[in-house]
Amino acid sequence: MNPTNIQLIRGFKDILPGETELWQHIERTAITLFEDFGYREIRIPIMEKTELFARSIGEDTDIVEKEMYTFADRGGDLLTLRPEATACICRSYIQHKMAAQDPVRKFYTIGPMFRRERPQKGRYRQFYQIDAEIFGIAAPFADIELIFLLRTLFDRLNVTDTTAHVNSLGCPVCRPRFKAALAQILDQAAPHLCADCLRRKDRNPLRVLDCKVPGCRKAMAGAPSILDYLCDDCRTHFSTVTDTLAKLGVPFEIDKQLVRGLDYYTRTAFEIQTGALGAQSAVAGGGRYDGLIESLGGPAMPAIGFAVGFDRLAEIVAATAPLATRPPALFIAALGDTARRQAFEWSTALGVAGIGVSMLYEDRSLKAQMKQANRLNAGQVLIVGESELAAGQVVLRDMASKTQREIPVTALVKTLIEIFSPAPV
Ligand code: HAM
Repeated sequence: MNPTNIQLIRGFKDILPGETELWQHIERTAITLFEDFGYREIRIPIMEKTELFARSIGEDTDIVEKEMYTFADRGGDLLTLRPEATACICRSYIQHKMAAQDPVRKFYTIGPMFRRERPQKGRYRQFYQIDAEIFGIAAPFADIELIFLLRTLFDRLNVTDTTAHVNSLGCPVCRPRFKAALAQILDQAAPHLCADCLRRKDRNPLRVLDCKVPGCRKAMAGAPSILDYLCDDCRTHFSTVTDTLAKLGVPFEIDKQLVRGLDYYTRTAFEIQTGALGAQSAVAGGGRYDGLIESLGGPAMPAIGFAVGFDRLAEIVAATAPLATRPPALFIAALGDTARRQAFEWSTALGVAGIGVSMLYEDRSLKAQMKQANRLNAGQVLIVGESELAAGQVVLRDMASKTQREIPVTALVKTLIEIFSPAPV
């Protein structure tokens, strides 16, 4: 009987060797940048109480309404696989009373998130985010720094086909005035809105503004701009952000339709959009959420952050600059049992010394082993047979120049370390 192969869950994916090198490269680039700007890593759990996300992201958002992986555990607690990191980091900041020691904190975290969306290119049910958050800074410099960091990260990864879209979503003082103005046009537009927008119209009216359905776009074309309704403080904040971005040479567009899919935002909201990904145009998104920490039971504390869609970023980087896998510096071709045992010992010592070594662990002909060394693109091959061992000399062959030389078996590891002189780890 042929048992059915078990496949991975729809919308989930494996990141395989060949891709992981690129992921590590992106991760290292991001971490270096964050650390240089004073961000510290925080690692938060993959699961939280459902209530945390319901209260922060918002009951009426797509994420909370229909995309969360929520279940009751065996003790009856309602738990959710995190759909994003911001709420979790706020929870941690409050729980550990971080504000009491120093309210100003900069964090980053990298890891998987879960949303049960309809899978397609660039949209997965388990996806990864590179997330950064600043707590305790109300000044617009925090907003500017984060958008600047995104620009710098993308530059360092040679991702150029992107634009920063920025908007202000106002604050509890000015947003109600905008909502009232919006309500009027929504009533007129109602007959032309899609079913989702009809539902959003009363419960989450701002979301109608960024619906991509052409009928809704057309019906909302005459909608007022939130930027015309900002209070003085929000207007000054927003103009400092845009003026300074321009001074720093960060390209951006003011996008009055940008509202974001999570409810916690206030003031600056932004997305990095790209033409490189088809329908999934946002490669990063973020914004200010000055009321969230307090609404979760913490102190009144301004905050702002972003998350990069790691999978989407990796797809763009892979298309522009595929990363070569690192070939082993040395392949050891051993002939016969004794030689293979000796070779294995050497390979462990060389590995510990930071030299990439490969060998075959089974008995194979020299031809097969040379073929393998070629396939791996090894720089050099050490040929070890019983007769070489007996003579106390082995052969080191340079695969590029096809030259070879003999080296003494005595102190072989030391000699090879000198030859390969790896960079200090
Ligand atoms: P978000 O816009 O929901 O924001 O997600 C940020 C980014 O994650 C998106 O721009 C996208 O690149 C990626 N992403 C989202 N869903 C998927 C998916 N199903 N598959 C692949 N990639 C996806 C947030 O999550 C906020 N927590 C960002 C933030 C941080 N705001 C303040 N601080």
